[in-house]
Amino acid sequence: MNAYDLAGKRAIVTGGAGGFGVGVARALLAGGAVVELWDLSQDRLEAARAELGPDRVSARVVDITAEEQVEAAVAAFAAAGRIDALVNNAGVLGEVKPLWETSPDDFRRVLEVNLVGSYLVARAVVGRMLRQQPRPLRGHVVNMSSIQGKEGMPLAGAYAASKAALLALTKTLAKETAREKIVVTAVTPAAAETAMAKLISSERRAEIEARIPAGRFVEVDEVARLVAWLCSDDCSFSTGGVFDISGGRATY
Ligand SMILES: NC(=O)c1ccc[n+]([C@@H]2O[C@H](COP(=O)([O-])OP(=O)(O)OC[C@H]3O[C@@H](n4cnc5c(N)ncnc54)[C@H](O)[C@@H]3O)[C@@H](O)[C@H]2O)c1
Repeated sequence: MNAYDLAGKRAIVTGGAGGFGVGVARALLAGGAVVELWDLSQDRLEAARAELGPDRVSARVVDITAEEQVEAAVAAFAAAGRIDALVNNAGVLGEVKPLWETSPDDFRRVLEVNLVGSYLVARAVVGRMLRQQPRPLRGHVVNMSSIQGKEGMPLAGAYAASKAALLALTKTLAKETAREKIVVTAVTPAAAETAMAKLISSERRAEIEARIPAGRFVEVDEVARLVAWLCSDDCSFSTGGVFDISGGRATY
């Protein structure tokens, strides 16, 4: 299979030790990019690096909700070269409960990681992208949202709300940077077989699968190939775009 041409590009993937993170990193590497994985645990990052093969892969412990850690990590990555692509992929599911039974602490935590964390990383990265020369673009930002952000989802109020807010953030940042040759997009996958899917009961899994007209979960590689295209210079005029990958579940 042909890979998108990402030769010479330098990318950051947050949540890089997780299911989509490793898959996205693999697709970016196949296109020739250099990739830095950010995640919470050194051990899991090292395991991801070993799985991907350490050539062109670096890893760093970064909690995306900690502003100083994000600033230091972006500064260190930028000191070694350009930042061509950011994949804002780190995220948490939170409690699987009806809204009235969820705890305010959990609700805040989900928003803090999925929305505020993504904002902190985008803020630090785009600030630097703006100072780079266009080649022909200054850079790409891809935000990992979810079909649940478009539709809402019973028992996942905080998660769905955080992913909807990420879509609004995507469109806002796209409008702010469109003339600066930065392309900002989001993807809205249906459920995939990652660690996140293992947090739910078998009944809930069956219920989620039944919502997908294609009758199956999305493969990590299917999402990763879409993200690789969104990080490539072939994706030049789709800024603000929300790319559906839900097996027909999305109604818009
Ligand atoms: N799996 C699905 O069904 C599905 C569907 C649609 C969207 N998504 C989204 O895809 C993204 C990746 O999820 P995944 O399915 O690979 O799950 P995952 O749990 O395998 O990966 C998520 C990663 O994010 C990391 N992370 C969490 N909080 C962090 C923080 N504060 N700082 C840095 N890293 C942090 C975790 O350690 C983990 O490695 C998430 O944003 C998720 O919401 C997942």
